[in-house]
Amino acid sequence: MTVADVSRLDAADPLAGLRQQFLLPEGKIYLDGNSLGALSKPVQVRLENVVRQEWGRDLISSWNSNDWINLPVTVGEKIAVLLGAAAGQVISCDTVSVNLFKLMVTALELQPGRRIILTQEDNFPTDIYMAQAVSGLLGEQRCSVRSVPAEDIVDAMDTEVALLLLTQVNFRDGRLHDIEAVTRMAHAKGILVLWDLAHSAGVIPLELDRWQVDMAVGCGYKFLNGGPGAPGFLYLAERHQNQVGQPLSGWLGHAEPFAFEPGYRPARGVGRYLGGTPGILGMSALDAALDVFAGLDMCEVRQKSSAMTALFIDGVLGSPIADDCRVLTPLAATERGSQVSLAHPQAYGVAQALIETGVVVDFRAPDIVRFGFSPLYNSYRDVADALQHLLRILAEREYLQPRFAIRAKVT
Ligand SMILES: Cc1ncc(COP(=O)(O)O)c(C=O)c1O
Repeated sequence: MTVADVSRLDAADPLAGLRQQFLLPEGKIYLDGNSLGALSKPVQVRLENVVRQEWGRDLISSWNSNDWINLPVTVGEKIAVLLGAAAGQVISCDTVSVNLFKLMVTALELQPGRRIILTQEDNFPTDIYMAQAVSGLLGEQRCSVRSVPAEDIVDAMDTEVALLLLTQVNFRDGRLHDIEAVTRMAHAKGILVLWDLAHSAGVIPLELDRWQVDMAVGCGYKFLNGGPGAPGFLYLAERHQNQVGQPLSGWLGHAEPFAFEPGYRPARGVGRYLGGTPGILGMSALDAALDVFAGLDMCEVRQKSSAMTALFIDGVLGSPIADDCRVLTPLAATERGSQVSLAHPQAYGVAQALIETGVVVDFRAPDIVRFGFSPLYNSYRDVADALQHLLRILAEREYLQPRFAIRAKVT
């Protein structure tokens, strides 16, 4: 593709104007929005206001006057729009890990005659660890984890399975599950589904209500751009609400927190999944970050995401210089999320060399370089330039420089 072709793509991009809303550092091509989304101007403004005015001036009265107390709901409802969920089913709180724990216990309670949590063996580790934690606490008789390769999931759906726990977009290779089809298959076997949408929310059109999804969780800090360690979210379909409790009965999930009763009475609805006091700085940042999505057509977002990943993949496959790289991400756009993963024997060095040149990517052990494309702030020019840098680094074997072998704690 020529420079003129790339310029034409950017000129015709209906989302191009959104980049103006982000504070991207000069001279960098940021391709790590699948790990930590970029800072947007509304977030910067909001954080300044929360710190100076709401906390600094209004102090504790802000719980009422600035509606801090309802932020988990307000933010949850903004996320619900992106998930295709009607009101009253999404709340923003805690982390993906903690929300998984709460919902897995709920699912087991909803399925008294079944004891297996079925998952994919290369699911994100926290999903598996938390399932193992639930099993450890409840005991093997009540809950056991079955992890199988992706291709064996359907065969593993038997009458013992209570819950199918899957991540829509795999963090390593970017492969995407068809939520609607898999959910339908699980339901046909009496199995509930819990989807991890960490790499989906904000970049893939979702229709959780229409697909009859039972439960879902996701991250605020990736494609939603809520900031480092932003709160996560959970979705629980209305039909499953109020039937069972949740295992982490914190005071803000109580029906009347300020009655300070000695005994726990869960709030009605998804609000019972709140635990302790929410981090208002992080929650406010996420709230403001979501304003950038207001009125966006998620199909347009998906279309740009697919076009960007295709441009990058085609460039890698079309160049003999990249022969050492294996494209792990599915070649069919409908089967991948918004990242491209390349396997390379010196992947860590390749990632570090790219970062030094200003192309921010990340590395996943043992041999993967991930390129995350955010349709809200990445341009086609970013994609083309990143590709040129990659090809140069490969051609010059720059990744072999000893300084690129030094491993940092976070990769
Ligand atoms: C698929 C997936 N699930 C869960 C997590 C972790 O979520 P948290 O740190 O909010 O518990 C990540 C983090 O990258 C992830 O990629």
